[in-house]
Amino acid sequence: MPDIDTDLHVKMLKAYMRDALFMNDAIKRGYATRDDMIKAVRSGKLPHQVVENGRTLIKIADLEQVFGKPRSAIYGMQWGDPDTVPPLLYVKQTYVLPYVKPEHVGLEIGPGGGRWTQYLLPMKKLYVVDHYQELLDALQRQINAPNLVSILNSGTDFPGVGDEEIDFLFSFGVFVHLDPHVIESYLKNMWRILKPEGVAFIQYSDKTKIMARINNSFVDTTTESMRKMVRDAGYEIILEDNTTLWHSNVVIFRRGSR
Ligand SMILES: C[S@@+](CC[C@H](N)C(=O)[O-])C[C@H]1O[C@@H](n2cnc3c(N)ncnc32)[C@H](O)[C@@H]1O
Repeated sequence: MPDIDTDLHVKMLKAYMRDALFMNDAIKRGYATRDDMIKAVRSGKLPHQVVENGRTLIKIADLEQVFGKPRSAIYGMQWGDPDTVPPLLYVKQTYVLPYVKPEHVGLEIGPGGGRWTQYLLPMKKLYVVDHYQELLDALQRQINAPNLVSILNSGTDFPGVGDEEIDFLFSFGVFVHLDPHVIESYLKNMWRILKPEGVAFIQYSDKTKIMARINNSFVDTTTESMRKMVRDAGYEIILEDNTTLWHSNVVIFRRGSR
């Protein structure tokens, strides 16, 4: 189970951000169809190197020069594109977009490469809070928006975010990896920054689901344990969705009267 200073996230990013890809991986990442890729290689338009076992290695810079950067090559899309994977599309349309308003201030915990950040941008200010500078740098290479404020935190805090400043707090693909004591600390710290009528959306691991059980990086939380942590921290649960996602659940809550 990863602890707060796990190297999991930086290792995953580094594995993804290689300088070059084998042709099959470049096709899988969506740079071009197999036919177009082969044509570009054979015509000499796409510089490449034939390496061991006759495999074709192509630099990412050359792929982007010839084909541009496809949406599917954004870091994080390997876990599913919220525009096309039905459960993620449902989450986006039902639980994210209704809370994204131009007059609102948002905050995302653990933005990664910006897979979900892109939908949160139409707010007057969007804080992105991460525990790893490498990931904030990767996001900056992907998204450059004047209303985006990056914050490097110590694991569960919100330095620089004002008291009761946040209308919508969102986190996906992060709490699934956080130990319960870290989740409890985050819940405690969120209270200060959420507006009394502000809303928080958190996706978390459900170890009763087989796809969470077979993933060692997913922590041992369930609907019941998360519900208890959220309520014990003083929040009022607005909604729980335990069916849409295959390895995790969604909980949406706001400050109660404590
Ligand atoms: C698996 S990635 C998910 C990225 C993105 N939310 C997505 O769904 O594509 C996890 C992200 O959470 C960040 N992270 C991990 N632990 C964190 C913590 N304690 N506080 C804030 N961010 C954290 C990682 O650096 C990374 O950006």
